[in-house]
Amino acid sequence: MNLTLHVWRQKGPQDKGKLETYQAKDVSPDESFLEMLDEVNDHLIKSGKDPIAFDHDCREGICGMCSQVINGRPHGQQELTTVCQLHMRQFKDGDEIFIEPWRARAFPIIKDLIVDRSALDAVMQAGGYASCHTGGVADANDLLIGKPVADYAMDAAECIGCGACVAACPNSSAMLFTSAKVAQLAVLPQGKPEARRRVQAMTKAILDEGFGNCTNHYECEAACPKGISVKFIAKLNREYIKSMVPSSAE
Ligand code: SF4
Ligand code: FES
Repeated sequence: MNLTLHVWRQKGPQDKGKLETYQAKDVSPDESFLEMLDEVNDHLIKSGKDPIAFDHDCREGICGMCSQVINGRPHGQQELTTVCQLHMRQFKDGDEIFIEPWRARAFPIIKDLIVDRSALDAVMQAGGYASCHTGGVADANDLLIGKPVADYAMDAAECIGCGACVAACPNSSAMLFTSAKVAQLAVLPQGKPEARRRVQAMTKAILDEGFGNCTNHYECEAACPKGISVKFIAKLNREYIKSMVPSSAE
């Protein structure tokens, strides 16, 4: 199939940027979206032009790097799919496709489709970990965890930190991302001792990093390639309120 691509080109953070149009010819329906872009880049390089800069790493839906807004939707129109897992069979001959970077104040554009998502790392560094000593593997496995709790934590742990939730939210809120990290650790025995400090530090970090607040649009859940539920935002809110109540130890 032959496609017309309108791609956001921006030389650097200070450049104004604009959409440029390219033709993608003889695209196989079996190619992934990133393979289609690789071919377009081959042609650009052979004709002495600057290839389109875009982020990618695992190309199997794990790393969260492939951040692109395709036809107005982060990761494209197919539900529960990262850009690297999106296949060209989802498009048809003659289609026009608009490809843009994540757009959020906390994600400055570095070049073309690449944005700086280190603001998400800063939120993680503020508290998205458990620092208590749990011993070796065998010791950690001695701690019995009920199946419903393990399932709940695993559902939250599916978040790959891609930032599509931020890109989809009209407020550029990072609440879905943060809530997945807070909720995962808050229900596990290893994470509980630091739950109060964690939720305080991570919610402060999302404001410090320039993310907006959550006003319940649910666009985050709709865009999330891993199906992270907004129920975790409710859990984050409960954890935050709990953290405001002094504990008996204080
Ligand atoms: S919550 Fe979903 S959309 Fe947001 S960073 Fe995690 S995987 Fe990506
Ligand atoms: S490249 Fe790793 S999730 Fe897409």
